[in-house]
Amino acid sequence: MKSFVCAFSGVALLGTTLALVSTPWQNSIAQEKDKVAKPADETTKPSEKAIERSRKTVRMLDNIFKQTIVMVTDKYVHDDDDFAAGSAAVLLFKNVSESGENKVRLLDATGDPYEPENVAKNDFEREGIRRIKAGAATHEQVVALKDGSHQLRMVTAVPVVMEKCIMCHAHYADVKPGEAIGVISYTIPIE
Ligand code: HEC
Repeated sequence: MKSFVCAFSGVALLGTTLALVSTPWQNSIAQEKDKVAKPADETTKPSEKAIERSRKTVRMLDNIFKQTIVMVTDKYVHDDDDFAAGSAAVLLFKNVSESGENKVRLLDATGDPYEPENVAKNDFEREGIRRIKAGAATHEQVVALKDGSHQLRMVTAVPVVMEKCIMCHAHYADVKPGEAIGVISYTIPIE
């Protein structure tokens, strides 16, 4: 029974970009995009120590979120009409992203998302999904914003950890054990 709890750290295809209906959240992502100048160059890049602090924050958030998704699915989801942990995660991530500086999204990595919105939205996320599918645990990039500050972008793997996931995502049954079916995409400040 315990085995799934720590299994959320495995290995993940490519998402398709879709035209979006504009919601406040999407607007905030669009605004974020405007702020991103470019990948940070070596001369102005933050120190390795500062980047490592942000990585640590991502690792902490990632652990809490994944443990929560697994716990919600285990304890509260009994049939496919129940409020899915996926839906809970999407809502939680939206609220976290709108209310603070840390942006987080749950994305499909199988090419067949439950919700068309939950796909990679930029080259960084597409590349991250490609690498994670190829076996990487994470993929990251440091970006410089126009105001001179920096952000760490990171994607982490979401493998199928419980039989119950297949109740709603039938095609997860075709994925090799340990292979990622999704990723969590983070954008957090480097300070
Ligand atoms: C009760 C049905 C149900 C179960 C069980 C379920 N999901 Fe989902 N999942 C959904 C729904 C519905 C969405 C779309 C949520 C949204 O966008 O609001 C979703 C979205 C996702 C996404 C985002 C990509 C996409 O397909 O839209 C991932 C990744 C995901 N689920 C993984 C999992 C994993 C891993 C498990 C098992 C721990 C799981 N799900 C269990 C219903 C379910």
